[in-house]
Amino acid sequence: MLLPLSRSPVLLGCLLLVALAASNGVLATPSKAGFGYKLVSLVQLPHGGGLVGYLQVKQRTSTYGPDIPRLRLFVKHETRERVRVQITDAEKQRWEVPYNLLPREPAPPVPGAKLTGAPFTAGEYPGEELVFTYGRDPFWFAVHRKSTRQPLFNTSAGPLPGGIRLRPNDPYTIYTTDISAINLNTDLYGSHPVYMDLRSLGGRGVAHAVLLLNSNGMDVFYKGTSLKYKVIGGLLDFYFFAGPTPLAVVDQYTSMIGRPAPMPYWAFGFHQCRWGYKNLSVVEGVVEGYRNAQIPLDVIWNDDDHMDAAKDFTLDPVNYPRPKLLAFLDKIHAQGMKYIVLIDPGIAVNNSYGVYQRGMARDIFIKLDGQPYLAQVWPGPVYFPDFLNPNGVSWWIDEVRRFHDLVPVDGLWIDMNEASNFCTGKCEIPKTHACPIPDSKTPWVCCLDCKNLTNTRWDEPPYKINASGQTARLGFNTIATSATHYNGILEYNAHSLYGFSQAIATHRALQGLQGKRPFILTRSTFVGSGAYAAHWTGDNKGTWENLRYSISTVLNFGIFGMPMVGADTCGFYPAPTEELCNRWIELGAFYPFSRDHANFASPRQELYVWESVAKSARNALGMRYRLLPYLYTLNYQAHLTGAPVARPVFFSFPDFAPCYGLSTQFLLGKGVMVSPVLEEGATSVNAVFPPGSWYNLFDTTKVVVSGGPAPVRLDAPLNEINVHVYQNTVLPMQRGGVISKDARATPFTLVVAFPFGAAEADAEGDVYVDDDERPEMVLAEGQATYVRFFASVRGKAVTVRSEVEGADSATAVATTSPYFAAGDNAMLHRHDGVEGSKKSVSVEVGGLALPLGKSFTMTW
Ligand code: GLC
Repeated sequence: MLLPLSRSPVLLGCLLLVALAASNGVLATPSKAGFGYKLVSLVQLPHGGGLVGYLQVKQRTSTYGPDIPRLRLFVKHETRERVRVQITDAEKQRWEVPYNLLPREPAPPVPGAKLTGAPFTAGEYPGEELVFTYGRDPFWFAVHRKSTRQPLFNTSAGPLPGGIRLRPNDPYTIYTTDISAINLNTDLYGSHPVYMDLRSLGGRGVAHAVLLLNSNGMDVFYKGTSLKYKVIGGLLDFYFFAGPTPLAVVDQYTSMIGRPAPMPYWAFGFHQCRWGYKNLSVVEGVVEGYRNAQIPLDVIWNDDDHMDAAKDFTLDPVNYPRPKLLAFLDKIHAQGMKYIVLIDPGIAVNNSYGVYQRGMARDIFIKLDGQPYLAQVWPGPVYFPDFLNPNGVSWWIDEVRRFHDLVPVDGLWIDMNEASNFCTGKCEIPKTHACPIPDSKTPWVCCLDCKNLTNTRWDEPPYKINASGQTARLGFNTIATSATHYNGILEYNAHSLYGFSQAIATHRALQGLQGKRPFILTRSTFVGSGAYAAHWTGDNKGTWENLRYSISTVLNFGIFGMPMVGADTCGFYPAPTEELCNRWIELGAFYPFSRDHANFASPRQELYVWESVAKSARNALGMRYRLLPYLYTLNYQAHLTGAPVARPVFFSFPDFAPCYGLSTQFLLGKGVMVSPVLEEGATSVNAVFPPGSWYNLFDTTKVVVSGGPAPVRLDAPLNEINVHVYQNTVLPMQRGGVISKDARATPFTLVVAFPFGAAEADAEGDVYVDDDERPEMVLAEGQATYVRFFASVRGKAVTVRSEVEGADSATAVATTSPYFAAGDNAMLHRHDGVEGSKKSVSVEVGGLALPLGKSFTMTW
C-alpha cells in the first residue's frame, strides 16, 4: 500500500504482529493456545496515569533460553493521538533506550513495585483517537481507531485489509552496520524500527505509524499478511501514532522523537566533496573550476585528506599547511562559501597524539576486559570514545573546540559511526608488522592480531539476527558486543546508538562554539537523530539502479524525522557514465541535501568535468538556487512540524491511491513535483500527476492538466529535468546565483498558480526569512519574518495579499536581512513589473520595491 520500501530499515505497510525478545530472557506474545502469557491482573492508575498489568507465562518454551516468568504491561494514552504499549520484565530492569538520549515520559512503576489503582476489567481502554483492546488468556492486544473502529495492529492472527506493497525482504535486519546502502537483505547504516501505513478506505487515504522503540538488533519478517519482530534484547516499547494524514503522522512522530534540526541557509546550497583531494591546491582548483563553469557551489569539503596520517582533528603539515589553509578559508568565507571536514570516531592509538593522550587521561574509551577496546580504522589501530559517558562528551566538546581554533570549519561530517571496524573480536597490535594506512594501493584489511570471542552470550546470542548476512557474528566488523560503555552498559544493547550519541555530542560541541546553528552530517542514525544532524545515504554506486534507489531512501528519511538528506550525486564508486552523471545532478539538485562525492579510486566527477554535465548542473542547480527561499521555508516547517522537505506524493494527495507506490517522482513541500529521468537512454518520462493543473517551472506556459492516474509523457532531453508546480500555490522564488549568499540578496518573484483557465480560484504560499545565524529557528520580534501569501482570481481581477508574522516592521527586516530592504508604503501598490494571465502569474516585485516585512495587497 505504500512506498516500495527500499534502501532503509523502515517498514511500511499494514501489519499484524507477533513479537519476541531473546537472549537475556524471552518475552513472547504468540497467540497459539497453550503458549505465551496470560494476563493475571490489570489496574488503572489514578490521574490518567495509564493501565498497568501483569502477565504470567503459560507454558515454558526453551527455544532461545528461559522465558521470563512475569511480565509487566503498561499502556498509556500519552497524547490525543498517541498510545504507548510497553511490555517488560516485571521483576528486573531491562535495557532500554536511555531517557537522556531520547527524552520521553517515564514508564511507571519501577519493576517489582506494588501497584495502587482501581482494578480494570473491561477489554477496551479508549483514548481520544485510539483504543487499546486486549484478551486475557492467552494474552493478546490490539489497537484500533476509535472513530471508525479500523484495526491498526493486532497481535492475534487475523486477516488484513487490502494489499501490501513492501519490497520483499526477509528479514529486514535492523542493526547499524557499515554496509553500503546498495546491499539488499542485510542491515544498513541506521536503525529506525518504525513504519508508516497508509490505506485507502472508501476513497480516503488514512495513515498511521508504529514505532518499536528498541536499540537492540532485530530481524523483522514480513510475510505478506503479517510482520514478525524478533528482537534480541531490551523491551517491547510500542508507540502508535494515529495520523490520520501522513503529515499528521510525522508531526506526531517528531513531536515525540524530536523535531528536525533547523539547517543554515547555506546548507541548501550545493556541496562538493571527494575522497582524494591530495592537497590544498587541488581544493582551490575545484572551487575555481565551479566558478569558471558558473555552476553554483556553496560548500567545499575535505574527506580525510587534510589530516595528518588520517588522525582526527589534525592537519597534514605538507599538503594542508595551516597558514595557507587559513588564507584560503578567509577568501572563501568572504565570498559567503563554507568549508566542512570529515571526522571519524576512531582515535588513533599513538602516544604522541594529543587527542589520544587527553582521551586516555580522562578514561573515555569503550572497554573490553577492563582495557580500551582496540579496533582498526583509517589511521590503523584506534580506540572508540564512549559518547554515553558524560566525560566522553565533554572531552569531545573540548577536542572540537581545539580543532575549531586550529581551523574555523563551518560544520562537521561524522562518518564510520556504526561503528565501523576493519577487525572483529578481541585484537592486539601486531608485534611483527605495522598496520599500513590504506590508500589506493593498500586495501583496508584487518592487520591487528584478533581472536574470535565465542565465550559470552553477548558475542554469540542464542538467536542470530541476519547482521551482515547470516553467517557473520554480531560483532562482525564493529565493536565486540561484549565490550562495555559507561556504567557497564553493554555494547550488545547500545550498539545502534553509537552514531546517534556521537551526533548529540557533536551538536553540543558546535552549538557551544559560536552560538550558531550547527551543521552536522552523520552516516549512522537512530530514532531521533534528525534533531541533531543531516544524513547522506552512504557509499552508493554510480549505477542507474542506485540512482533510482536514492529516491525512496531520501523519502524514508523524511518520514524518520531526518528531512535534510541526500545521496552522493553521481555515485560514490564505481564511476558513473557521463549520461548517468547528467541525470544524477538533475535529480540531486532537488535532494534536500545536495552533494557530489566520490571515492579516490573513481575518476574525477566534479560537475564541470564534462561539458554536458555542466550544462545540466547549471540548469537544475540554477532552478534550485531560485527556489532557495522555498527550501528554507520548508526547513522551517520541518523544524516546526516534522513535515519532510522531500515527500512522497501521497503526502499531499493521500486520497489519490495511484500515487501510493510512487518512488520515481516526489514532492518538495506541498506542491512542487520532481519527475527525473531514471533510465539509461531515455529522453522522456512517463510521469504520474494527481488531478489538477501542473505548471512546468522552467517554462510556466507548459502546463499538464491531469485528470487521473494515466501517466503523462514529458519530454526530457539530456540536459533537462521536469519540475512542476501545482495549482493553488504561491511559490516564492528569487533570481538565483552561484552562491546562496548572493542568491538571497536578489529580488523576489511570486509564482502564483491557479487551475488552468479557472475564472475563480485561490492560491496560497509562504516564506520564512531570518538571518540564518541563530541556533534556534523561531519567529521572534525583530529576528525572523514569516509571510503568508493569499492570491485569488475573480474573473479578470487578480489579487495577491500578504500577511506578516514575526518582525512586522520593514525596518527590522531590513536590518537583519538587507535583501529585504525597506520600501516606502507607496510602492506597495505598484503594478509595474507585474505580468498576469489566468494560467499562472508571475509577480515580479524587485529590489527596494517590496518590503516583505509589511503586509501588502496588490490587485490588477
Ligand atoms: C566511508 C564514507 C565515505 C568516505 C570514506 C573515507 O566509506 O562513507 O563517504 O569517503 O569513508 O573517509
